Amino acid sequence: VFYTLMRGSSKGRDSMESPFKANVLEGKVALLTGGGSGIGFEISTQFGLHGASIAIMGRRKQVLDDAVQALRSQGIRAIGFEGDVRRREDAARVMESTVKHFGRLDILVNAAAGNFLVSAEDLSPNGFRTVMDIDSVGTFTMCHEALKYLKKGDRGKGPARGGLILNISATLHYTASWYQIHVSAAKAAVDSITRSLALEWGTDHDIRVNGIAPGPIEDTPGTRKLVPDEMPSKSREYMPLYKLGKKWDIAMAALYLASEAGNYVNGTTMIVDGGLWLSKPRH
Ligand code: HXC
Repeated sequence: VFYTLMRGSSKGRDSMESPFKANVLEGKVALLTGGGSGIGFEISTQFGLHGASIAIMGRRKQVLDDAVQALRSQGIRAIGFEGDVRRREDAARVMESTVKHFGRLDILVNAAAGNFLVSAEDLSPNGFRTVMDIDSVGTFTMCHEALKYLKKGDRGKGPARGGLILNISATLHYTASWYQIHVSAAKAAVDSITRSLALEWGTDHDIRVNGIAPGPIEDTPGTRKLVPDEMPSKSREYMPLYKLGKKWDIAMAALYLASEAGNYVNGTTMIVDGGLWLSKPRH
């Protein structure tokens, strides 16, 4: 599906105000891997605009610096930490630095991902492993290192609750996607991690663990990489539900899951793709 997308857009949502109150995440501290670009950055922005303090982790210093500056210019408390989710020591250090800086950790968003288009025949086992390492093992590593901070029972008013984990996934693996065997396998593992942790940590620590599976989202590294400009397509004609989503759409789903509104949601991966993955040719 992804490989045959054309560019288009669902109109009117760019300028839309958030339907959530500006304080729904007041007092929360969120750490986002891949939070400096693409979908991760939009979630950073919206979480920040809704009251959260934001720590972003990424590999590229310049991207981090620019993102932190952009967040601060909107009045958001933000800090960036260099790190690679493939390195456990980076995960531990960034987690510790976040808590040192902001005093606590309430929300972990795993948005870092690796991707490239390649046929299974041409993909080396090391290429496969690299994406598994970033997406799947990286997600588990971050969750594992976050646990001791997220499970604390001193989270403000009301019954003591643990924190929240949000794993950014995909819909590629619901069927099969061309030239995405590595990412499909990696995201299938991410969804499985979401369910297992929701069970174990939901039960033991009152931590909610959910995912979001975005469809094609305009103006993201993923879509730029997977849908080259020159690619011709008649997708609209045979995908009845096809339209590109906006980063805002994913951030609003994240806000719902992270806010009190999502209190009873645990272990689910919310598909936010306009129904695209259901689409079949009309005839
Ligand atoms: C074939 C490739 C390749 C390519 C890397 N490899 N790029 N194989 N085609 N284009 C192979 C290499 O040959 C090597 O295997 C192995 O992968 C490791 O490559 P390195 O370059 O050493 O790895 P590294 O520098 O760590 O980079 C990993 C990376 C990452 C995965 C390429 O840099 C990356 O993709 N960054 C972009 C992040 C990104 O686009 N994020 C958005 C994700 S969007 P050998 O055998 O040669 O050693 C997303 C959406 C998914 O996830 C869902 C969409 C619907």
